[in-house]
Amino acid sequence: MTERAEKIKKELFKKLKKERFEHTVGVMYTAASLAMCYGADMEKAFLAGLLHDCGKYCPPKEQIRLCDKYGIHLTESELKMPALIHAKLGAFLAEHEYGITDREILDAITCHTTGRPGMTMLEKILYIADYIEPNRREIPGLKEIRAIVFEDIDRAIYLSASRTLQYLKESGKETDSLTAGTCEYYKPQQF
Ligand SMILES: [Fe+2]
Ligand SMILES: [Fe+2]
Repeated sequence: MTERAEKIKKELFKKLKKERFEHTVGVMYTAASLAMCYGADMEKAFLAGLLHDCGKYCPPKEQIRLCDKYGIHLTESELKMPALIHAKLGAFLAEHEYGITDREILDAITCHTTGRPGMTMLEKILYIADYIEPNRREIPGLKEIRAIVFEDIDRAIYLSASRTLQYLKESGKETDSLTAGTCEYYKPQQF
């Protein structure tokens, strides 16, 4: 781990709740492993994993207040689904509080919750690492996604996006258009 990553990790240890910090470390190492597998920049994957949930250090109401304070525009679906807000706030904090200037890392943090059509490899890695990291509680289909992710990351993304949409629908929650777009984009082509 570089000195910079070590310093950020220590700061996050103080700021995040125990479970969130453990999840963060899980995402960090999972993202680094996926970067090794897919030939992406390991250091970037490591930093993106480390900082991906840095916007979750406070409750959603406070996250909305901070977005307002920093001039971060929130969409209607983000306001309806506060669980999405920490991604944009996290990218802002990663840049302004933790000194990350690399656009690729910041973009990966921005779309880590919903994914998006046409993701970069780093974005794909962070999105799926967040879903499969070892501390995640067992959810239907997780085993299958973990089993294929090192062979077919696009299929793993499709499966996780479709499971997320299914879960939101079944529990009567709002679904967002970006997750739906991710699901559609990564859906295997039928011939
Ligand atoms: Fe997150
Ligand atoms: Fe996360």
